[in-house]
Amino acid sequence: MTKQIFITRRIPAKAEEMLRAKGYEVMVSQKDGILTREELKAELARIPYDAVIPLLTDAIDADMIAAMPNSVKVIATYSVGYNHIDVPAAHARGMVVANTPDVLTSTVAEHTVALALTVASRIAEGDRYIREGKFVGWEPMLILGTDIKGKTLGLIGAGRIGSEVAGIFHKGFGMNVVYSDLKKNEALEAICDAKFLKTNDDVLALADIVSIHVPLLPETMHLINAERLRMMKKNAILINTSRGPVVDEVALVEALKNGTIRGAGLDVFEFEPKVSPGLLNLENVVLNPHLASATEETRGKMAEMAAINVIEVLEGRVAPNAII
Ligand code: DGY
Repeated sequence: MTKQIFITRRIPAKAEEMLRAKGYEVMVSQKDGILTREELKAELARIPYDAVIPLLTDAIDADMIAAMPNSVKVIATYSVGYNHIDVPAAHARGMVVANTPDVLTSTVAEHTVALALTVASRIAEGDRYIREGKFVGWEPMLILGTDIKGKTLGLIGAGRIGSEVAGIFHKGFGMNVVYSDLKKNEALEAICDAKFLKTNDDVLALADIVSIHVPLLPETMHLINAERLRMMKKNAILINTSRGPVVDEVALVEALKNGTIRGAGLDVFEFEPKVSPGLLNLENVVLNPHLASATEETRGKMAEMAAINVIEVLEGRVAPNAII
């Protein structure tokens, strides 16, 4: 029987092309937006799909997995993060769950660096200043930023993306690198002369730029809270391109307002897509609508990777990025 695949929203055409080339039938949600729970459940009940390609905006929780037909063999998310999927519930039903790591590492790292530079050099503030018609000529004390050369980068989580960020900052800006993680990263230490610190708190106390690169897990929820923000240097910048709930956003608003830290760059939000209203009024935070992997090249590669994950499972092989 022809294999049937459901993609929950339009993604780059490559995925569909690859799946169709295999003779599969591909259904792509025609809604220009995120499917509601009810819409997604109804679609999953409509056809005995063999595979589903969801996005990070689809809650594939235990209830949704229970609603999937028995025919579903693989859930191949179009994202590296998979906190939106109840992996044990999928595994319990014999479904493979796979994601799209590696292909987005350098893009997310570049974006992380861009956010940090934007905050440090106050570029978004300058842009607003001009658009508001305030620029009347060069001024010696106008919108002064802070240098980053030779300062210290602190990674909370030193996996693929964190390591790439460290490489750019170390080689390009001569930054010292300190990091905390579950284990030492020997490769990172060799490339960046990075120092492994025992705790996140040690990193927060030393770093001028703190960049978060941990997955969202019960243990990392609100990892950066009011107490930890107080541990940071007064002149420090916090960058989050991982998952919003890792940072207590209410506490962050307070810290930015009170000058507990210098500034922040956020690509992700605790209540995404809602942004805490307090953030919107602050000059010292740069806000980005979850764009860190959003380049034409990378989104194309993510589509390709999601399709490969589906094809490998449906052809009886192991998905290259199966989550175990
Ligand atoms: C992912 O793929 O998980 C990223 O958050 C996308 O930017």
